[in-house]
Amino acid sequence: MAEADRRVRLAILISGRGSNMEALLRAAQADRAFPAEPVLVVSNRGDAAGLARAAALGVETAVVESRGRSRADFEAELGACLEAHRVELVALAGFMRVLTPAFVARWEGRLLNIHPSLLPRYPGLETHARALAAGDREAGATVHLVTAELDSGPILAQARVPVRPGDTAETLGLRVLAEEHQLYPRALAAYLSGTAPVAPPPGLLAAPRAD
Ligand code: GAR
Repeated sequence: MAEADRRVRLAILISGRGSNMEALLRAAQADRAFPAEPVLVVSNRGDAAGLARAAALGVETAVVESRGRSRADFEAELGACLEAHRVELVALAGFMRVLTPAFVARWEGRLLNIHPSLLPRYPGLETHARALAAGDREAGATVHLVTAELDSGPILAQARVPVRPGDTAETLGLRVLAEEHQLYPRALAAYLSGTAPVAPPPGLLAAPRAD
């Protein structure tokens, strides 16, 4: 394969529904020029609905169960699974486990997350309810690099939506989610192309395409 056609080997980590995972898979399948190739979807829960969605789209899946074991044990198996698939970039997509500083350091610059708020506002959970309680007039989502501190890494891109009168956490969440599905593929592609506000590690930068 010519270097210009090289796609970065991407793993997507999920815990549940997997709609952002599906948006990434569909973006990669729809566009030859998308700079990443999803090679693996990993869930930390065997009952995640997203596993079937990934399989239906022809992507290999794995379960690395996080319950009932130590964090070190879980992350050792997860890391080995990623290495075995020669993964170069990891996208967290509704992955609801906090990763240890050691794991994050191993994947520095190669670990992305999507979070349903306009960071730095509302790291953590219940983001839409908190935005409504604060009387915010807009909400949104953020794609960022993962660092040891929760939801605090360098921001790659954000999408904004208005808060409408009568919104509940659910209606607002659905409006944000629709934006997330556009934002994540766009932010990931921009990162690998060197057009995001933060540059990727040298080995990840997609070579300019010949066509
Ligand atoms: C998404 O809204 C994502 O931003 C959020 O969970 C949802 C997963 O939905 N992630 C977090 O809250 C991470 N802290 P999905 O499984 O359908 O992509």
